Amino acid sequence: MCGIVGYIGPKGAFDILIQGLKRLEYRGYDSAGVAMVDADGKINVHKSRGKVANLERVARAGDTSGSLGIAHTRWATHGEPNDINAHPHVSQSGEIALVHNGTIENYAVLKQALEKHGYTFKSETDTEVLVQLIDYVKHHNQCTLQEAVREALLQVDGAYAIAVVEKGDPDTLIVARKSSPLVIGVGEGETFIASDATPIIGYTDRVIYLKDNEMAIIKRGGDLSIRNVKSSTPTQIDIQQLKLSLAQLEKGGYDTFMLKEIFEQPSTLRDCLRGRITDDCSRVVLAGVEMHKDVFLKAKRITLVACGTSWHAALIGKRLIQDFCRIPVEVEYASEFRYGNPVLDSDDVVIAISQSGETADTLAAIELAKEKGAFVYGVCNVVGASIPRATDSGTYIHVGPEIGVASTKAFTGQVTVLTLLALAIGQLRGVTDKDTVRSVASALREIPDVIEETLKCDPEVKNISRIFTYAHNFLYLGRGYNYPTALEGALKLKEISYIHAEGYPAAEMKHGPIALIDQEMPSVIIAPSDYLYDKIISNVQQVKSRGGAVVAIVSKGNTAMNDIADYCIEIPAVPACLTPLVASIPLQLMAYYIAVNKGKDVDQPRNLAKSVTVE
Ligand code: AGP
Ligand code: GLU
Repeated sequence: MCGIVGYIGPKGAFDILIQGLKRLEYRGYDSAGVAMVDADGKINVHKSRGKVANLERVARAGDTSGSLGIAHTRWATHGEPNDINAHPHVSQSGEIALVHNGTIENYAVLKQALEKHGYTFKSETDTEVLVQLIDYVKHHNQCTLQEAVREALLQVDGAYAIAVVEKGDPDTLIVARKSSPLVIGVGEGETFIASDATPIIGYTDRVIYLKDNEMAIIKRGGDLSIRNVKSSTPTQIDIQQLKLSLAQLEKGGYDTFMLKEIFEQPSTLRDCLRGRITDDCSRVVLAGVEMHKDVFLKAKRITLVACGTSWHAALIGKRLIQDFCRIPVEVEYASEFRYGNPVLDSDDVVIAISQSGETADTLAAIELAKEKGAFVYGVCNVVGASIPRATDSGTYIHVGPEIGVASTKAFTGQVTVLTLLALAIGQLRGVTDKDTVRSVASALREIPDVIEETLKCDPEVKNISRIFTYAHNFLYLGRGYNYPTALEGALKLKEISYIHAEGYPAAEMKHGPIALIDQEMPSVIIAPSDYLYDKIISNVQQVKSRGGAVVAIVSKGNTAMNDIADYCIEIPAVPACLTPLVASIPLQLMAYYIAVNKGKDVDQPRNLAKSVTVE
């Protein structure tokens, strides 16, 4: 979780660090802090509970000088969010300051040992243990900071990305990582470090993705060396070109990132589809599949692993793959899969889906699948993130940076790629004939325009949202392809408006949740005119006859539902397998407007973080 930024170069570090933290704030935002080492070697530390803006105010009242600095925006795992637990943490000797993303699992044992050596602790964090341990090793072994960092890391279990500076040395920045991400931006005579590339954009487009168990020693002037923490041997420096622009990170005139991301779905899906369907729509071409045809031809089973919204996309992926490839498919929460002793072998393909490409549970599921001999395919958004690097092959969804914590455009991007993937594997295995590929692929190619049309429901959804803003509970119901859409609609509402919402298969409702229905419990029912329409109509009737209000999402031209449901939102008609892409649009908007009506911070909802890099 959390965001780390660092800078060493000729400029004042503070402004660069604060700007970087603001760009990373979506990763965690319960408290923040900075430490600068000034020209005299003094460490200036400022920390504050709450958002980066608070920190900026607090810090500007003090000394912010120094052209070497590290900074952190926290998502607490150990100890409540307050000023003391905020990073950077400074060692007892006052000599070392450190920021950390991740969790130190053996912190309690290390803490006890350090207490015996006379160390006392100010915070409740696992991170403070690490900085004290480095301090202890440095003094005990009489060694350099880089040696002390390496020695200390060898004693640590868990996940970390760290940045460390030392009093008296304004010329050295040390970073290291294991399981948590860290990127180094290589500028002209200046170097940046960050949890992801967003703070670096605009300064340099040359980046190094630090690998697991690597540490980098960055010197003023730009000198840089990387070594393996375990073996201490130097490793090759691989500088890559960054392809993100500043414009992609800004709100573009919208009030929030979430609204911008909802409205940019026509263009993000155009980017996602580009070059992947032949002009005559007769073939889907995914390089990740083409390069590994043998794997997909012999696959006996496909397992999809993911978390949260990506897991909902996986549920839709299951139906798509079943329909177009006729292979058995399973869907697992990555967090359950990793500890579930799954039965896998070399005939299995595991597809890991993740927007951020950094989700710790999904990464662990991938490692496990690889250990068991399965072929692992990634469906990710963030280019160069840990998951795409850990997988055997994959497809990027290419929807651009998603900053709003509640996922919107990444979800539709994932579903689009999963549709392409199902068609590509189906055509390869000879299960899906050319006509089917042609008709689904041509409908899929129209989806960006269809979503543009769908977004016209915005004013209507805004009105309906006003009516339901003060409901305390919601049911979201759908069937077939749209049961996962219902789950996703409910998750969106929960995440940003804090209203309890449950997604349910519409027909399953009568086996329990129907007991909840009364005038106080609205239901959102996804009822496009597909092969399940007649069935879902009876589910709508069941809700209505118990006094529940119904908002129905229906296909354009369906006037019959007007007589049954309280409110109808029309969406363009598309083939059944593509309805989740379209039906999710009014659900995203509805969650958004209800949250805004309630005065909630939609881009940074409480307790959540964009990138869940802890277990
Ligand atoms: C989505 O709105 C959520 N904030 C969350 O469920 C998210 O989808 C989940 O944490 C998985 O993230 P990933 O796609 O980056 O792996
Ligand atoms: N475990 C550390 C803490 O609770 C770091 C959490 C983070 O990654 O933000 O402070």
